[in-house]
Amino acid sequence: MTTTVTVSGGDFRPYEVVVGRGLLAGLGGRVAPLAQGRTVVITDETVGRLHGKAALASLKAAGAPGRLLTVPPGEGSKSFAELERVIDRMLAFQLDRKDVVVALGGGVVGDLAGLAAALFMRGVDFVQVPTTLLAQVDSSVGGKTAIDTPRGKNLVGAFHQPRLVLADIDVLATLPERQLRSGWAEVLKHGLICDADFFEWLAGEGSAGAGGDPEALERAVVRSVEIKSAIVGEDEKEAGRRALLNLGHTFGHAIEAELGFDETKLTHGEAVALGCALAFRFSAASGLCAPDAAARAATVLGAAGLPTRLDQAGTFKAASLVKRMGGDKKAERGRLTLILAWEIGDAFVARDVDAGAVTAFLEAEIAGG
Ligand code: GLY
Repeated sequence: MTTTVTVSGGDFRPYEVVVGRGLLAGLGGRVAPLAQGRTVVITDETVGRLHGKAALASLKAAGAPGRLLTVPPGEGSKSFAELERVIDRMLAFQLDRKDVVVALGGGVVGDLAGLAAALFMRGVDFVQVPTTLLAQVDSSVGGKTAIDTPRGKNLVGAFHQPRLVLADIDVLATLPERQLRSGWAEVLKHGLICDADFFEWLAGEGSAGAGGDPEALERAVVRSVEIKSAIVGEDEKEAGRRALLNLGHTFGHAIEAELGFDETKLTHGEAVALGCALAFRFSAASGLCAPDAAARAATVLGAAGLPTRLDQAGTFKAASLVKRMGGDKKAERGRLTLILAWEIGDAFVARDVDAGAVTAFLEAEIAGG
């Protein structure tokens, strides 16, 4: 079964997110109507080895022949140097404004290829073919593209919506288990933000998805894409409601930064899971949500093999974490903005959060309180 979710409502051309199995083989048939000329498939070495040939063959058969442009795997490719190299290769391939960029890979490839597409000849169309769970449920939808600089992550970028997103559940079968679970954190995040029934399904029958069951994964991806699409349609540029998608990210980003963004210690998804657990416990400590709701959130995240307590990730100082949270680009004029919750499925944007209260909370968490 294939499900199509339309992303619309914002100041952008509506586009479809197609979720299903075996979609990669039909890539060419879906891209050819968008491409008046040629295509370039930007991928990384790992994904290129697994799926590059199939993607090129499908594009060629459909009359939208492509060149493969491969970048090294990993966050290091979200750099000015790699962006320059990618754009230079696109110029060397003599692509023009009618040609289409296909981003075949995880979040790094999607962010880099999307930004290259936004900049090349002042903007060309691009198609996202996300190959990680995290990219399927989050980064491929919504048009955020970016690279990192030595001063921080995602600091240089553009909003550039894709023309089409193809989320093929079958490609998730080759994902390492830890990466799958990391993507599952973003799936659970969507339930925690605005859909308590979905969260309880993920905790029960749907939990097989965290272990790779394709049917559960498909349903989890579809619902996540519906949730994200609705939010992006309302608030493309993150003036308000889109910030809800950052649940767990301000705590999580600070923890990742303290660990030097070392994915061997803590993946982004693990940091988000831990951040969600902290956001719920802080909400409970602030009298905003019931302690039972915070405990339930942590239980379900933990049952999916995700960390929910700081000591599972490393040794931290509360003041250092709060400093990192204040330095987060989501902070406004030195005040902490956090995504907090009234209950599971009902998160909200809290501006003006008292940094002292967050420090005291984290001190108690570190002390095991
Ligand atoms: N990943 C959060 C967003 O797209 O807004």
